[in-house]
Amino acid sequence: MKRLEGKTALITGGGNGIGKAAALAFAREGARLVLADLQLAAAEAVAAEIEAEGGKALAVSGDVSDEAAVDAMVRAGLDRFGKIDVLFNSAGGGSTKDGPVTELALDEFWRTIRVDLFGTLLTCRRLIPEMVAAGGGAIINISSLRAVIGTHGADAYTASKGGVLAMSRAMAMQWAEHGVRVNVLAPGVVLTERVAAFIKPDNPIYQKSLLGPSDPEDVAAMALFLASDEARKVTGTVMRVDGGASIY
Ligand SMILES: NC(=O)c1ccc[n+]([C@@H]2O[C@H](COP(=O)([O-])OP(=O)(O)OC[C@H]3O[C@@H](n4cnc5c(N)ncnc54)[C@H](O)[C@@H]3O)[C@@H](O)[C@H]2O)c1
Repeated sequence: MKRLEGKTALITGGGNGIGKAAALAFAREGARLVLADLQLAAAEAVAAEIEAEGGKALAVSGDVSDEAAVDAMVRAGLDRFGKIDVLFNSAGGGSTKDGPVTELALDEFWRTIRVDLFGTLLTCRRLIPEMVAAGGGAIINISSLRAVIGTHGADAYTASKGGVLAMSRAMAMQWAEHGVRVNVLAPGVVLTERVAAFIKPDNPIYQKSLLGPSDPEDVAAMALFLASDEARKVTGTVMRVDGGASIY
């Protein structure tokens, strides 16, 4: 029996990086995938890869910070697969417009709050009632090492990921009795294409990874565990995938 046999997972940001790695890992464990991404072509390419391996996947275009778009991506998934058991919120990320509060571009603060925090709120808000009605589900939200330890240089992003962490813990409390588990991943440096261009090896956060930076597949493996019934007693936790950086 595969670990996600019979389950359907919606992955936001499923077209690239960690979301893509999770999509491939989930599909290999039997899940059907709904891949929602601003970049439709990227999501379609991942869906095609999954189908070529014999899996089932639907690519949907959509912005997680837009309530109507979130509704449309969820509806598309429900229409195609009948239910959604797992939600993995991977859409998001920082930018070079971020910085210390005294210097960061103020519009970058609202952009990251809208995408990383509000986007996570919107997908959870839309899917939790569906999961409750179905008797349960698993939500995995991506925060960041920056929300767990003090770092410098990305205060808007840090604020948004701190919000994701705290909000997820509140949701875990609220929905446990309905069988909805909510857990958080807090990655350190993960060498996705975007980050490899953005965080250079001389960045202090990079230096702190005792085991070295992670690959997207390392984070995907943790998401797979949290999505599976192996984690049926795990909720409200923050799993750090940071090569030990948080104990440095
Ligand atoms: N890579 C890292 O080092 C790292 C570390 C900690 C946390 N994270 C978090 O992990 C998540 C994934 O990061 P990644 O490095 O894989 O990024 P990535 O850029 O490789 O992939 C992110 C995907 O999300 C999509 N996306 C962005 N905004 C969106 C929106 N508004 N609506 C729908 N889709 C959207 C992009 O099109 C892209 O396909 C992010 O939330 C990021 O903050 C990454």
